[in-house]
Amino acid sequence: KSLHRYHTFHLDVKAKYFTEAKSVGELKEIISSDIFKSNSHLILGGGSNVLFTKDFDGLVLKLSLPGVQVQEESQDEIVIKVGAGVVWHELVMHCVAKGWGGIENLSLIPGTVGAAPMQNIGAYGVEIKDVFHSLEAVEIESGKTRTFNNNECEFGYRESVFKKALKDKFIITSVTFVLQKEAKVNTTYGAINETLASWNIEHPTIGDVSRAVIHIRQSKLPNPEEIGNAGSFFKNPTIASKAYEALKSDYPAIPGYPQEDGSVKVPAGWLIEKDGWKGKTIGQIGVHKNQALVLVNYGGGKGGDIWQLAQEILASVKKRFGVELSAEVNIV
Ligand code: FAD
Ligand code: EPU
Repeated sequence: KSLHRYHTFHLDVKAKYFTEAKSVGELKEIISSDIFKSNSHLILGGGSNVLFTKDFDGLVLKLSLPGVQVQEESQDEIVIKVGAGVVWHELVMHCVAKGWGGIENLSLIPGTVGAAPMQNIGAYGVEIKDVFHSLEAVEIESGKTRTFNNNECEFGYRESVFKKALKDKFIITSVTFVLQKEAKVNTTYGAINETLASWNIEHPTIGDVSRAVIHIRQSKLPNPEEIGNAGSFFKNPTIASKAYEALKSDYPAIPGYPQEDGSVKVPAGWLIEKDGWKGKTIGQIGVHKNQALVLVNYGGGKGGDIWQLAQEILASVKKRFGVELSAEVNIV
């Protein structure tokens, strides 16, 4: 089965087997089947955070569980339970239309609700851990459903327990969020304020914030329907404050965001751009011209070549700045 339209790098890769689960019942049937048990498997949502370096010699299981249910509602809060297969941005648009605040800063992030807790998706000052109540997941080995609360997910920057101790152990089937009916907007991220100010909006609604975020994203991130990509390819690294000060004396313009533990987060996009990679094209692939953190497939590129390019960028950034980048995208 061709995976071309099932992931956003749009590479010409195939899976030996492919199946889709549209309900928890179907999912449990699939994971107890012989074909599932006797092959390696890959759980797929929207495929917007994976790089296939070659054909997948196993079973790809796409999660398409639907549904948005109101669980509880009070004067100022609403609790919703959402199926893993719901498209994230459609959920955001639904909530903004209803006036439920909390995820508007996460507008236009591709992918599904079920994958969102995997790396604790974040953008423009908000992460899903800020609105996350709990999730339900099926344990692959036992087929049993388990609920995880916020603490149990061990959320961090682009991290959760599902990428660490429980990697490949659970399939997330639904996520429950707590949203605000009298929403306070979060415009701490500078670019949001600048955009709203340029539109002469003084008292923004969640709809205004959503539109501003969409506007900012469209101005620098390539649309995967036009140019294959998986968003930021690397994480933004944190370095010791001493190392940051040393870099700053060589590169006075280097941006840095102090963290609670005293370390400093440095934008990988800045390092990659300064190292001369921004806009570089090698055959069918390259580094995006507006955002150096995004590797792209212009069409017909190979996943192995993208991974090779990533390794070259990593080595070159390490050599120039002494900073080690790590992949944000899941490599298959
Ligand atoms: P997939 O790519 O299908 O899967 C990602 C990983 O999760 C894989 O390891 C997969 O096996 C696993 N997985 C998927 N679903 C489940 C499930 N139900 N249960 C268990 N495991 C599962 N991310 C951000 O955080 N912030 C951004 O601002 C952002 N911007 C992006 C912009 C662009 C243009 C693109 C292409 C990507 C961007 N991303 C961003 C990355 C991506 O959108 C998110 O990581 C998203 O949550 C991935 O969802 P998905 O359904 O496509 O996951
Ligand atoms: N920068 C450059 N050159 C570039 C790109 C960035 O110099 O080519 C510098 C600029 O100084 C800029 C700073 O990096 O001020 C930050 O850039 P930007 O606001 O574009 O964000 P980012 O750090 O590159 C992160 C996330 C994005 C998220 C945005 C907005 C990571 C790995 N990436 O990118 O998430 O949308 O912030 O909050 O943390 C993703 O995870 O796929 C993703 C797109």
